[in-house]
Amino acid sequence: MQAYIKVVDVEKYHGSSGSITKAIDRVSFEIEKGGFIAIMGGSGSGKTTLLNMIATIDTVTAGHIYFEGEDITKMNEEERSGFRKGDLGFIFQDLDLLDIMTLEENIYLPSILKKEGSDHIVKRAREIMDILGIRQVGDKYPYQVSVGQRRRCSCARALVNDPKFILADEPTDALDVQNPENLMGSLLEINDRFKTTILMVTHDPFAASYCDRVLFLEKGKISYELYRGARKREENLQAILDAQKSIRSCRSSGGWIPSR
Ligand SMILES: Nc1ncnc2c1ncn2[C@@H]1O[C@H](COP(=O)(O)OP(=O)(O)OP(=O)(O)O)[C@@H](O)[C@H]1O
Ligand SMILES: [Mg+2]
Repeated sequence: MQAYIKVVDVEKYHGSSGSITKAIDRVSFEIEKGGFIAIMGGSGSGKTTLLNMIATIDTVTAGHIYFEGEDITKMNEEERSGFRKGDLGFIFQDLDLLDIMTLEENIYLPSILKKEGSDHIVKRAREIMDILGIRQVGDKYPYQVSVGQRRRCSCARALVNDPKFILADEPTDALDVQNPENLMGSLLEINDRFKTTILMVTHDPFAASYCDRVLFLEKGKISYELYRGARKREENLQAILDAQKSIRSCRSSGGWIPSR
């Protein structure tokens, strides 16, 4: 069966002559349709770089990325823009809501860009706000609500166009202790209910424990991969913590690779 997303031998160098960083070093993996995948790794390991290339926000230095069989690295800017507007939903690392609009208006934005009818926009936005528990703060401005509510608003905006594929960069970053659970529960519900494929970058094992597969990135390479299988969420969290410990001890002892 054709992979939904296929990343093949992708490399990425940042910078120009004099100061070049190899951010991604020949990475290959596949994502199945309906998958809920986490990419974990320390700061600077290349997580955002990898996500941005899959999102066509950034270009690859070498290699190929296929979305439903089509090589997105070969698209021109217009095709990439169409791909982003049509198929993708983004939740960015930095909070990116417009302060001059209410939360509800912020959520309408992608639909306005897609020129959808207003009744449909309102209905869909409110449905998503209900799922994410932010309906009651829809008429507030971003600076009037908590970081967690702003983050869920970013998620709602990513979801309002019914994207086939959601890319999230540290969606639980800067949330208080209560909120990651709500947000991850909502993403899981979306993945479950609408079979939306989700690729999420996180350094938080708790957030990753909701996913059905975790890729560990180290210095631009995938060092380990963990499948959830039939594990309960709490068991998956423990497995992720154990994997992180093994990876750390592998690094300090210079070479042992933990078994899957
Ligand atoms: N625009 C850029 N120009 C030069 N170097 C860059 C650029 N963007 C990222 N890098 C470098 O590439 C490497 C990977 O960065 P990236 O942002 O992908 O890491 P990350 O895993 O997302 O980190 P974090 O967890 O801190 O967000 C780092 O060494 C970083 O300094
Ligand atoms: Mg990052």
